[in-house]
Amino acid sequence: MTNWEELESACETCKNCSLWETRSKLVFGVGKLSAEVLFIGEGPGENEDLEGEPFVGRAGKLLDDMLRIINLDREKNTYIANIVKCRPPKNRDPLPEEREACKPWLSAQISLIMPKIVVCLGRIAAIEMIDQSFKVTQDHGKWYDIDGVKYMGLFHPAALLRDPNRRPETFLDLKELERVIKEICNDTYGGDK
Ligand code: URA
Repeated sequence: MTNWEELESACETCKNCSLWETRSKLVFGVGKLSAEVLFIGEGPGENEDLEGEPFVGRAGKLLDDMLRIINLDREKNTYIANIVKCRPPKNRDPLPEEREACKPWLSAQISLIMPKIVVCLGRIAAIEMIDQSFKVTQDHGKWYDIDGVKYMGLFHPAALLRDPNRRPETFLDLKELERVIKEICNDTYGGDK
């Protein structure tokens, strides 16, 4: 697969698992293809399924606020995707076989974007992208180097809505993320490098 349009239209017709049967819209991803920071969530919820864009519900608003704290913006300098591109019915967790079936699409997105930093939102993204034994409560905010790319896991914004007590730790994780962005990313992030 050589370019983004081809990739997205091939993904539209994907039947690698059965989630396509119950989804409304494919949720391929949103943001800048030139992004140096990629955020990965778990999978579309109800609002995302209706709009065809990741993180547009309440958790998405919180994610946008979190991004703003560190000068990131889905329209300007970051990309947001999910482990699975179609909504699991009734918002259940995507099954291991569904994650596996969807992985080639995310891998192809990563190959085209070539991010320097990948931030995994929540346990499912982190166990799929970082380590099967990842525990968000204990491993959030730590850096992992995988094939020359820096990975970090954060609490999922939906978890932060349920448990606001986790927000101060997430703020510190975001500041650490910002520190490394300023160190290794180019100056389109507007920070004083
Ligand atoms: N939760 C996710 O993990 N992804 C979305 O796109 C929306 C909610």
